[in-house]
Amino acid sequence: MNQKHYLITGATAGIGLATAKQLASEGHNLTIVGRNTQKLQDASVEIARLGNGEVITQRCDSGDMTQITSMAAALQRDGLAYDGIVLNAGIFMPQNFSELSEASFDQTMTVNFKAPLFTLHALLPCLNNPASVVFISSLVVHKAFAGATSYSASKAAFEAAARVLNLELAERGIRINSIRPGVTATEIQRKAGMDEEQIAELSGVMQSTALGRILRPDDMTAAISYLLSDASVGMRNSCLDIDGGFTL
Ligand SMILES: NC(=O)c1ccc[n+]([C@@H]2O[C@H](COP(=O)([O-])OP(=O)(O)OC[C@H]3O[C@@H](n4cnc5c(N)ncnc54)[C@H](OP(=O)(O)O)[C@@H]3O)[C@@H](O)[C@H]2O)c1
Repeated sequence: MNQKHYLITGATAGIGLATAKQLASEGHNLTIVGRNTQKLQDASVEIARLGNGEVITQRCDSGDMTQITSMAAALQRDGLAYDGIVLNAGIFMPQNFSELSEASFDQTMTVNFKAPLFTLHALLPCLNNPASVVFISSLVVHKAFAGATSYSASKAAFEAAARVLNLELAERGIRINSIRPGVTATEIQRKAGMDEEQIAELSGVMQSTALGRILRPDDMTAAISYLLSDASVGMRNSCLDIDGGFTL
């Protein structure tokens, strides 16, 4: 088996945690990044049970540039070298355009766009040549949802930047691809302020898709693993829609 070392941001919940579990079960070494020490600790125990690889935890709040810089410096000091990164940490703060606040716009753009961009920038010295980067984008890049102005813009902004990075980093063999999940049952809905009734309604909407149910974090992990692996070496700036057929 070709054992690799991958770093995953936002690995304490949802799609990030499911991805870490998948990669651990494939035998890879992992650095899991999160903002909450207890959640990181709990996740690392859960993940470590699944494989023989090493699981390193690294605390970092993506909303804080100083923490991003010191995380990268610490990893570099420890001599860590990554074959791939999953830029997954993200937030959703729904707000109708008429009520849009500068604060929620800034927070969304900071965590969903600025943070993955500068995390990748800060980690460049820790990336092997070649290396594969996977960005967790969203269906919202090409499907409009009311209340998702900033969120949609934040994901589209990173995808646009990734096109340029795929050119600039090509000489090092560093490539960037994205997945675009559709509505996936994770903590993100509750964190976005949705109540049980609204979440049930969302699940109901997903029942009318071709898939016939709301997506689950596990539905994303094989695609992420593939994009990280050498098997996808020919892919640059592709965006895989995993939306259950929402836009058919
Ligand atoms: N669920 C969906 O329907 C859906 C659809 C399309 C795209 N996505 C994208 O998928 C990615 C993962 O979302 P999810 O649904 O799995 O949500 P989730 O369950 O809420 O997980 C999000 C992860 O990001 C972390 N995070 C959030 N803000 C952070 C910050 N400031 N610093 C560091 N870590 C931070 C969270 O940490 P805590 O555990 O501490 O909160 C958590 O580990 C996001 O980029 C999201 O935009 C989700």
